[in-house]
Amino acid sequence: MEINNNVFETFEGGIRQYLAQMQLYDAAIKEVKTKLEILDNEFSIKYDHNPIHNILSRLKSPLSIMQKLKRRDLPLNLESLKTGMNDIAGIRVICNYLDDIYHIADLLTGQDDVKLLLRRDYIKHPKPSGYRSLHMIVEVPIFLAKEKRYMRVEVQLRTIAMDFWASLEHDLRYKSDKNIPTNISTEMLRCADDIALIDGKMQ
Ligand code: GTP
Ligand code: MG
Repeated sequence: MEINNNVFETFEGGIRQYLAQMQLYDAAIKEVKTKLEILDNEFSIKYDHNPIHNILSRLKSPLSIMQKLKRRDLPLNLESLKTGMNDIAGIRVICNYLDDIYHIADLLTGQDDVKLLLRRDYIKHPKPSGYRSLHMIVEVPIFLAKEKRYMRVEVQLRTIAMDFWASLEHDLRYKSDKNIPTNISTEMLRCADDIALIDGKMQ
């Protein structure tokens, strides 16, 4: 794991405490990813259909964590990580069809060791940008040598088409230092609507 020491010189509990906490998020990612893979395999064998196209995951970088805590006026300590952030562990599930998203989401949150903390349906209610995805914050148990810890994971589910749009829009939005010009964002919104129509047809 790459750590920018300059950034985390300021972490109250020290770098070791920070790394230990990150390791728990990493374990939570593995846990949820395995659950998703098991569901996908079961579908593949029983119904000859793979609902999941691919799964991506990431641990939020120290720099993004620091920037987010700063934006929210929270101190750089363990408490802020635990209570002030939901997306240190992030999983993106790219599904083949629209229905697969809801199916997988329901099966995952229906498991008795998965707690659903928050569900935001940006497919039924797209963001003003045109962004579509199903977002969930779940909590899963991680088993350590002497204890069991519940860790939060952000799961974003979307179709291949939604992912294609979000990736390009993300590049435009976050990688250019200026705001997206109005004519471009209007065009992006139109593209998002077209893509939604195609997802509907593909279903
Ligand atoms: P953050 O502080 O950014 O995490 O926002 P939030 O806690 O309000 O969560 P939200 O449900 O808005 O989802 C945040 C994540 O969804 C972002 O990190 C992106 O991955 C994705 N996202 C949300 N809106 C957009 C958008 O308009 N375009 C793209 N490309 N991605 C988006
Ligand atoms: Mg986020």
